[in-house]
Amino acid sequence: MEKPRAVLFDAYGTLFDVYSVGLLAEQLFPGQGTRLSTVWRDKQIEYTRLVTTSNQGAHYQPFWELTRQALTYAIKLIEPAARQDWPAFSARAEQLMNQYRHLSAFPENKAVLQALRDRGVATGILSNGDAQMLGVSTRSAGFDGLLNHLISVDPIRLYKTHPEAYALGEKACGLPASQILFVSSNAWDALAATWYGYQTLWVNRLNLPFEELGTQPHRIGSSLRDVLAFFD
Ligand code: LAC
Repeated sequence: MEKPRAVLFDAYGTLFDVYSVGLLAEQLFPGQGTRLSTVWRDKQIEYTRLVTTSNQGAHYQPFWELTRQALTYAIKLIEPAARQDWPAFSARAEQLMNQYRHLSAFPENKAVLQALRDRGVATGILSNGDAQMLGVSTRSAGFDGLLNHLISVDPIRLYKTHPEAYALGEKACGLPASQILFVSSNAWDALAATWYGYQTLWVNRLNLPFEELGTQPHRIGSSLRDVLAFFD
């Protein structure tokens, strides 16, 4: 494998800790924080697939909206009373959405982005998130000036894992996928990026098994620091 000339990162789960909302979820829904944040995340991704694969994208909505609707679902699942009396729960939903807007970044990210910059490697985010979400998250994480590309799938209204979503990364970098390293903590995303033709690193932050669909990512790591080994 040749040394990659650019690195593209997934955002949610990879640069930003989506489970960091669990703490607030636990305060708002005692005993159910972990379940709520897991259902929320799974439903959010399920909705991206539903709208991408149904009716030629007629039901597309930006990631922020799908995230809100997935949260409503998750609350109604764990708190059946919310199905009858949503207003009693809407303030808590708003608090969680606010928290989602300001997700924590994983602690090692900034040093890794800086090290890539020092090596002259172009970097970017390729995410399902819409431009506004990505802008707020990268600013609050202090990534200003450390990323060359902020690529959202929103303009093409097709979520990952649609190949046109991954194609946006090649276009922005002006490189074929084979010369770009794609980094994701989401196994499904690392898998689909490998299928598309990227060099891939799956950052297995949660110590999970990889997808069982016959293809492996090029490398598996445990933190973003493992990106740097591609450039030794
Ligand atoms: C993203 C989600 C899928 O940032 O994590 O694209």
